[in-house]
Amino acid sequence: MKIECCNVSYRYDVPGAGWALSDVDFSLDQGEKVAVIGPAGSGKTTLIQLIDALILPVQGDIRYDGQSVLSLSKAGRLSSIRRRIGVLFQFPEHQFFHETAYDELTFTLQNFFDLNEGEIERRAREVVGRFQLDVDVLRQISPFYLSSGEKRKLALASALLSSPEVLILDEPTAGMDASGRRELIRLIAGLKDVTIILVTHNLEDFLDIVDRCIILSEARLAADIRKDHLIRSLDVFQSAGIVPPLVLRVQDWLAKEGVNLPRTVFDMDQLIGLLRHSR
Ligand SMILES: Nc1ncnc2c1ncn2[C@@H]1O[C@H](COP(=O)(O)OP(=O)(O)O)[C@@H](O)[C@H]1O
Ligand SMILES: [Mg+2]
Repeated sequence: MKIECCNVSYRYDVPGAGWALSDVDFSLDQGEKVAVIGPAGSGKTTLIQLIDALILPVQGDIRYDGQSVLSLSKAGRLSSIRRRIGVLFQFPEHQFFHETAYDELTFTLQNFFDLNEGEIERRAREVVGRFQLDVDVLRQISPFYLSSGEKRKLALASALLSSPEVLILDEPTAGMDASGRRELIRLIAGLKDVTIILVTHNLEDFLDIVDRCIILSEARLAADIRKDHLIRSLDVFQSAGIVPPLVLRVQDWLAKEGVNLPRTVFDMDQLIGLLRHSR
């Protein structure tokens, strides 16, 4: 699904509120992976709520395969947009409320899709199998008994159960330890055909798997940069009030010191490998 944000502005309906997003314009093709970064309060969560059609633009429009979100009824937004988008909200485990992990996993499919129990279980086994979780165990235990890494995986599996064309992730690795982060990133990296919109404070973690980076600053789109150009755009990060990823800062510094590498790399281990070979 092609998603076009056309000069989108949004203001929360509270007294004295300014623009939470102002004149944001970009488009995403099916399968693109984009990181959305920006300081706290810059509008990241607002943007993904707009893309998920949970809230509607106050000005501008969002088009999904050309269809305006403003042309759809609430039911139409659910069937034409929201069912095609999977969302992993920030700290999803704080919203768990089912008795068993299996019910937590399948809640959306049970309630918003017209599928029989057999089909739901088949999908659950297929997705959960990739995640080193076991449906039969999930049926027996409370989601609260899972480890923090397993809780996050359960929430991601739940978002993927409906085979979404688009996956939105709001700070998916926040609060996780290094091994949990690595595993989650590996799972996300495996979603080749899915459009991924990923809000993160740890761009470093995801640099290897994204194609593009959208930088928000004070409700505006400060930059929309293809990954290959990031190394030449470090000043954009600085002026938006974000520290650029270390792996890029090191390469920038090396270039200034006259050390020219054959290509830009986006992962610290790869950078170390390149430096070893170029000695
Ligand atoms: N529910 C809300 N009601 C009123 N203002 C809000 C609400 N949610 C966010 N805001 C305001 O909108 C702006 C953007 O917030 P948000 O999209 O949450 O930013 P981010 O996710 O980048 O931290 C901020 O000024 C924030 O205070
Ligand atoms: Mg946020």
